[in-house]
Amino acid sequence: MYDFKPGESQDVAELYRELLGAADALTADEPDSVANMANVAALLWEFLPDLNWAGFYRVAPAKRSPALELVLGPFVGRPACIRIPFGTGVCGTAAQSGATQLVEDVHAFPGHIACDAASQSELVVPVTRDGRVIAVIDLDSPHPARFTQADAQGVEALAALLSARI
Ligand code: SME
Repeated sequence: MYDFKPGESQDVAELYRELLGAADALTADEPDSVANMANVAALLWEFLPDLNWAGFYRVAPAKRSPALELVLGPFVGRPACIRIPFGTGVCGTAAQSGATQLVEDVHAFPGHIACDAASQSELVVPVTRDGRVIAVIDLDSPHPARFTQADAQGVEALAALLSARI
């Protein structure tokens, strides 16, 4: 049985160190990317308070053309939009720019895609490999301004760990 749980610390950096350790232990010896994304989505949900969605969108071909777009991957939360074009919404902006998107108020973000009406703030971090975005990690919260720079740095470290494992 796996029993990865956050410790008692209230320190955000410590919480992410524990989360990264658990993610490293779960994914180090597993080559299947879906299994690794599924377990990491579960860890994000388990370790981070005040979320209503945590998971992955992968870069993959569109249905009727070889153009790339974001396609829903493993997640915890309510069913979500399946395909997101590059440059659209918070996830598509992160994928197109390759830059973390920390959004305090999703209603103020141009083109935000409301998959769950409860979402108020959002953090999206690209996962890159060989200089290309291969996926994004998406966290949603029902609280405004839930995410800080400490969350951005923690999830960026997680994205770096996962680069060769998803
Ligand atoms: N809100 C995201 C879409 C994905 S859901 O939040 C799960 C966006 O604007 O890209």
